[in-house]
Amino acid sequence: MKITVVGAGAVGATCADNIARKELAEELVLLDIKEGFAEGKAIDMMQTATLLGFDTKIKGVTNDYSQTAGSTVAIITSGLPRKPGMTREELIGINAGIVKGVAENILKYSPEAIIIVISNPMDTMTYLALKSLGLPKNRIIGMGGTLDSARFKYYLSVALNCNSNDLQGFVIGGHGDTTMIPLTRYATYQSLPVTELLDQAVLDKVAADTMVGGATLTGLLGTSAWYAPGAAGAALVESIVRDEKKLFTCCVALDGEYGQKDICLGVPVIVGRNGWEKVIDYKLNAEEQASFNKSADAVRAMNSVLHDMKLV
Ligand code: LAC
Repeated sequence: MKITVVGAGAVGATCADNIARKELAEELVLLDIKEGFAEGKAIDMMQTATLLGFDTKIKGVTNDYSQTAGSTVAIITSGLPRKPGMTREELIGINAGIVKGVAENILKYSPEAIIIVISNPMDTMTYLALKSLGLPKNRIIGMGGTLDSARFKYYLSVALNCNSNDLQGFVIGGHGDTTMIPLTRYATYQSLPVTELLDQAVLDKVAADTMVGGATLTGLLGTSAWYAPGAAGAALVESIVRDEKKLFTCCVALDGEYGQKDICLGVPVIVGRNGWEKVIDYKLNAEEQASFNKSADAVRAMNSVLHDMKLV
């Protein structure tokens, strides 16, 4: 099994590191456009193999897609990350061209690959991959909700002073500060609804902190986060290559599910060997559905930029 990670920046390298440590593939190709950069990261990671005890072979390449041939999964992290004060949406003009080129190159050498999109604005980049590659929709997965749900559980665990692994919770909708929807009503602590354990004001603060989770880190770090985004990408790869059929929130093409179509948006899906295999239908109340529709409107407005740029 071979896996490719495109973009050897902080997110791509962290994702590759997680994939190697978990030994999700025999071979991992890390590709970057910057001369020697992926090679350097790959050698550095390979020098951890005897210390960490993994057997995955990591190879770094500069823009040579022929080396990625035959990959089962390809993760796209390419493009610029956001700077403090920037929204993910502001990256669209720069990142759209990059992501389209990367996706086409991947497909040229790995026609069967499942594509995981991490680049921002993630919902629009996922839609771009869907529309420009013409692949079956189950093979295009945007990572955003997996990360946002992990952040949601982190903030809930702080509020509850509990182990975050005892929590379940999902964030649906767009991967944007104002478009994501933490589904507080469905979040549980070992089957107990968190709505019975925390006051509304605390729940509202958890949701608000989750929504700006990425921006908070960008403010602290001076660039966007990488540990959790990289780990989220690797968790999806693991569910695919081990056919775990775990439930994650991912950005996927909707065709009437959750009342939306012709859009890629975050909903709970089963992830397995065929990519995303099935949407799980959590019944939304009127308020949640209205938020979801609003999120769809905002993402659709961003997607229209792709039409203006003649990319789809
Ligand atoms: C974040 C970026 C990766 O949310 O979108 O940290």
